[in-house]
Amino acid sequence: MQLRSQAVWKWAAVLILVFVVGALAACGASGDNPGSEAQVMSGQALLEDRCIQCHSLDTVTNTTKTPDGWHENVENMVLRGARLNEQEIEVLVAYLAAEYGR
Ligand code: HEC
Repeated sequence: MQLRSQAVWKWAAVLILVFVVGALAACGASGDNPGSEAQVMSGQALLEDRCIQCHSLDTVTNTTKTPDGWHENVENMVLRGARLNEQEIEVLVAYLAAEYGR
């Protein structure tokens, strides 16, 4: 009886150890992952993902604007319902200004 419960505890300890080490390894991996910072998509990906619900991509790519003009336009589209957070707006505006600037 005594021996048996000791054996159980030993296995439990081993299992807990494996679990903790595994969890730490998983944490370390995600902490080192450069992708965690780059949660923001590229400007092109944002454009193709968030700007096609109400009109075609051509509506956007057929026009050119100054950086300020694009900023105003994107803010305007967000007011209409485009789903972009502050950081995404910055990335997208920079992309639009570079690719479709004037
Ligand atoms: C919720 C709907 C909606 C979404 C999402 C949307 N738009 Fe628009 N967009 C409109 C409407 C409606 C118009 C036409 C009315 C107008 O011209 O102001 C328009 C017109 C435009 C125009 C042409 C008019 C202009 O000012 O040059 C551009 C460029 C444009 N959108 C860019 C974008 C970009 C970039 C995105 C992604 C961030 C986007 N739109 C997402 C609704 C939307």
